[in-house]
Amino acid sequence: MNSRIYYTKPSITELEVEYAMDAARNGWGDRCYEYINLFEEAFRKHLAVEYAIATSSCTGALHMGMLALGIGVGDEVILADTNWIATVAPIVHLGAKPVFVDILPDSWCIDPDLAEEAITPRTKAIVAVHLYGNLCDMDRLLEIGEKYNVPIIEDAAEAIGSVYHGKRAGSMGKFGVFSFHGTKTLTTGEGGMFVTNDADLYETVLTLSNHGRARGQTKQFWADMVGFKYKMSNIQAAIGYAQMQRIDELIDRKREILGYYKNNLECLGGVSMNLEPEGTINGGWMPTVVFDAGLGITRDILLKKFREFNIDARVFFWPLSSMPMFQKSNFFNERSSDIASRSINLPSYHDMTEIDMQRVTAIIHSLFSRNSRV
Ligand SMILES: Cc1ncc(COP(=O)(O)O)c(C=O)c1O
Repeated sequence: MNSRIYYTKPSITELEVEYAMDAARNGWGDRCYEYINLFEEAFRKHLAVEYAIATSSCTGALHMGMLALGIGVGDEVILADTNWIATVAPIVHLGAKPVFVDILPDSWCIDPDLAEEAITPRTKAIVAVHLYGNLCDMDRLLEIGEKYNVPIIEDAAEAIGSVYHGKRAGSMGKFGVFSFHGTKTLTTGEGGMFVTNDADLYETVLTLSNHGRARGQTKQFWADMVGFKYKMSNIQAAIGYAQMQRIDELIDRKREILGYYKNNLECLGGVSMNLEPEGTINGGWMPTVVFDAGLGITRDILLKKFREFNIDARVFFWPLSSMPMFQKSNFFNERSSDIASRSINLPSYHDMTEIDMQRVTAIIHSLFSRNSRV
């Protein structure tokens, strides 16, 4: 049996180990925030934003950002139906109503026209999720946001390395959030980042992230509001800071892998992959293949075939509206529903070899020869 090909694995070198050991040995007392500060500063510079706050997860960063925008009971937040559960969970926790709209057929990100149509007087935000590294149409979304005075939140959990007309994903909206979960291009095991250019929002989220204790508060054990405990530890930040020293290398490798797949698969008729329109760069977090409906290549066929060859198969996100907790809201988005049944994410960890990638593409090619015989 061939060795297993994982769909993602982090790239950890001696540098990450060295910094983590240093944090474990010395990062206490006066130095307990040292790596957190270094990591936030490096990330802030990379993104070219004013403020960055390291958090325990991207979900936590979203939760705090949404609360800081005043999102609460009875409000509505618009997002694409094709999505990971983490984007919608904070909306529900805040007592607001998620409004699921359909995706664009080519970028698989939120359709801005449908987002505009879904705006009501109760709309408090639109979440632009840059799916699998693909970029949302930010010009249109920001224009809509301005027209209706609705903030655009960027969920860039999957989009480190993606650039939209010179601006990095996550740096364009009212605030942006990132994930450093172990499957991501840059990892701290678990972790996230909140970024913004808005000084007031920054202060509020900083306070929220530390149990509601404001930065300038000198009274010991005094909270100024009820907040959260969504801080990142210094040891995690040490790993993150090491990864930031290697950020270009990490992104380049993900792009290289995406490029390999695109070169070898887009030549097959009826296959589309991650989009990279003129003036943009796709960070290549998750190479994804979508098969035209007419080909008859389904998720179930793909899952079976990948498993047979000891390769991790990762399904395209299910529409959130199809999950039990949202079914009674009666959203139905045709593209989001249809695409998931004929798509798959491909393995893309940094250390995979060309032979590994060949094993993956060979499976897809074999489906085509099989299919043409059907
Ligand atoms: C689009 C999106 N948003 C949010 C998250 C949540 O990230 P975390 O697991 O760090 O909370 C993820 C995680 O994979 C994601 O893909």
